[in-house]
Amino acid sequence: MRFRRTTPERCRTFDERVNMARKRVAVLISGRGSNMAALLEAARAPDYPAEIALVVSNRADAAGLRGAEAAGIVTTVVDHAPFGTDHRAFEQALQTKLDAHRIDLVCLAGFMRRLTPWLVQRWEGRMINIHPSLLPAFKGLDTHARALQAGIRIHGASVHFVAPELDSGAIIAQAAVPVLDSDTPETLAARVLAAEHRIYPLALKLLAQERVRVVDGRCVIDDAVFAEGVLIAPQIG
Ligand code: GRF
Repeated sequence: MRFRRTTPERCRTFDERVNMARKRVAVLISGRGSNMAALLEAARAPDYPAEIALVVSNRADAAGLRGAEAAGIVTTVVDHAPFGTDHRAFEQALQTKLDAHRIDLVCLAGFMRRLTPWLVQRWEGRMINIHPSLLPAFKGLDTHARALQAGIRIHGASVHFVAPELDSGAIIAQAAVPVLDSDTPETLAARVLAAEHRIYPLALKLLAQERVRVVDGRCVIDDAVFAEGVLIAPQIG
């Protein structure tokens, strides 16, 4: 008697197998959403290990929401205003949305609310943020103006795990850009933003592939090769 060797796995189509393995990602925004758009674009590739399953904004007027809708992505608004100072209730409402959409990973992309340890700890190792500086320098706001004021020659962006302390957490990827004598905060921000759009999809990819581990507070990336661009540096000379 001959047994058929077809397994259930083999019965699945290629698309089904890729989608099964793909991590379901929520992107949290408050405004323009250009990093969200970079993640959406990357996730269009059939071999990208994550799909953007949900875009959440705390502001109904966030321009990024329109972009996500145009791309056919499910969006939702969790307005922080009605919750006032009850941060926990706001975060519980966020968590309910994330649960409802079976989210595996969260990307903060210009999400302008500070999260409490309650939510951060729930997503430990599964929530990342992009910050427009070479951390740990220039945590907080107005990074480009502060970088110019400090007279530094190299500025940049970082993707890091979210930790209870603001703009802390192990760093997954960084991109450096030169600071030019002629720069204004706006021109420098534009140069950094272009770099952000390169490293955020890369960092999410590494996380979704389960290749990022935190050891003693530092990220270790399995099978990393320099060419992958975990660090992007300006050419010198
Ligand atoms: C980016 O500069 C990001 O690094 C910071 O907020 C900005 C958001 O821009 N956290 P966008 O909404 O992604 O265009």
